[in-house]
Amino acid sequence: MSDPAPSPTVPAPMPVRRDLHFPFPPARITDWHGAGGHVTQFFNTLSLYFPEGEKFFIQSVRHYKSQITDPTLQQAVAGFIGQEAMHGREHRAFNALMDEAGLPADRIEQFTINRLKMAHKVFSPSMQLSMTIALEHLTAIMAADMLRKPEVLAGSHPDYARLWRWHALEETEHKAVAFDVWKTVMPPTLGSYLKRCWGLLQTSWFFWLFTAIFHVRMVHAAKPQQGHLVGYLRLAKFLFVKPAAWLSLAPAWFAYFKPGFHPWQHDNRAALVELEQLTADLANPALH
Ligand SMILES: [Fe+2]
Ligand SMILES: [Fe+2]
Repeated sequence: MSDPAPSPTVPAPMPVRRDLHFPFPPARITDWHGAGGHVTQFFNTLSLYFPEGEKFFIQSVRHYKSQITDPTLQQAVAGFIGQEAMHGREHRAFNALMDEAGLPADRIEQFTINRLKMAHKVFSPSMQLSMTIALEHLTAIMAADMLRKPEVLAGSHPDYARLWRWHALEETEHKAVAFDVWKTVMPPTLGSYLKRCWGLLQTSWFFWLFTAIFHVRMVHAAKPQQGHLVGYLRLAKFLFVKPAAWLSLAPAWFAYFKPGFHPWQHDNRAALVELEQLTADLANPALH
């Protein structure tokens, strides 16, 4: 990673809830990404997790709210909850376009709802928080990659790209909040460390396995213009060669297993300056 090491004297950014609405041309929902229909469906599949996944994160963090006494962390938790709620709302609108286009979005979301309901019943609050910080790590490292490499969204429809950049920016802004809650409420023991690591292992295989399965369902329902051979080859290039949107996550994924890991050890706060321009662009009535 080329970003500078964090300065321990610089506090983490304070997440702020931004009540933004994103316009999309519905006709482009199956082909908005510059790399074609198969890559579009990769992002669309990820979007199907967000509304329910983010609700799960909010519940997991909220469970420990009474144990957080530090006013800065209390404020960060409020910002985190506000941001995830807005992400859920905007991705729900995005996902509705998929249903309207005949994609099996609703059925896939129902599967996620059922799995998360089960996780809520079966796992302890600390295991749910471990899963939350693991998934927050996954989203933060994907967000960092997107913000660092313009190629990840190159050639995409600007209205769609804007939603993904906003989400990536806010995921970056609040990337340490759930983790700091974990550090506050869990004892600094080997057991806690192992539970944190298990959270990432467990959620990662589940996340990528089901992303692959759902992606195939989405692609076949979308009937992309390009053939499947060309489409899957372009997706493979996108994920593993250039911009290597999946493969290049590996070093940051492994960093999580360091006993002294903290999300801001990868200090990419400089990217957050874009939030101001993005917010100003959305205020332009010509967009809506
Ligand atoms: Fe989010
Ligand atoms: Fe998040």
